[in-house]
Amino acid sequence: MALCNPRYNLSTMRMQLLTLAFVLMSGSALVSAEEPTAAHQQLMKDIGGLNGKIRKGEDVAGNAKLLAAAGKQVEAFWGKRSEIGLKTSQEMISGANEMATAAAANNADGIAAAGKKVGGSCRGCHDQHREKVAENVYKIK
Ligand code: HEC
Repeated sequence: MALCNPRYNLSTMRMQLLTLAFVLMSGSALVSAEEPTAAHQQLMKDIGGLNGKIRKGEDVAGNAKLLAAAGKQVEAFWGKRSEIGLKTSQEMISGANEMATAAAANNADGIAAAGKKVGGSCRGCHDQHREKVAENVYKIK
């Protein structure tokens, strides 16, 4: 019987180890896209909502302050994970604060400039860390 043959057992064991190594290697490639937490998804939804209101001109100063506060939460999550995450969340915070100041002063050029900075911060992080896996389904990468 094959199982009683010590040479067979040795090669079987080698095959199993190779298979295990292969599974572990391909496994680590598969987990590169991470499921976002419900809290992260909610945070992004809120940020998307605030940004939408700002672009429509609804209470720009007030919503920009809320956007800056949300940016702090983004920074708390991303700052420890990635350099781009840290940089873009800080740009989001400073852009939103500049937006609030410009809106309070009725400075249209300032609002436009801050809007570009905020938009660039979203794009900068999304390009690097947001992975679209299906229509309206995104993961973290
Ligand atoms: C530091 C990283 C980072 C920054 C900055 C950031 N996002 Fe996101 N965002 C993500 C990631 C990662 C996802 C995908 C995972 C998720 O939905 O939680 C996402 C998803 C989203 C979503 C839901 C999916 C979609 O695209 O419809 C919205 C809306 C959104 N972000 C809006 C914004 C806006 C607006 C800004 C800028 C004001 C912004 N985000 C800034 C990382 C970031």
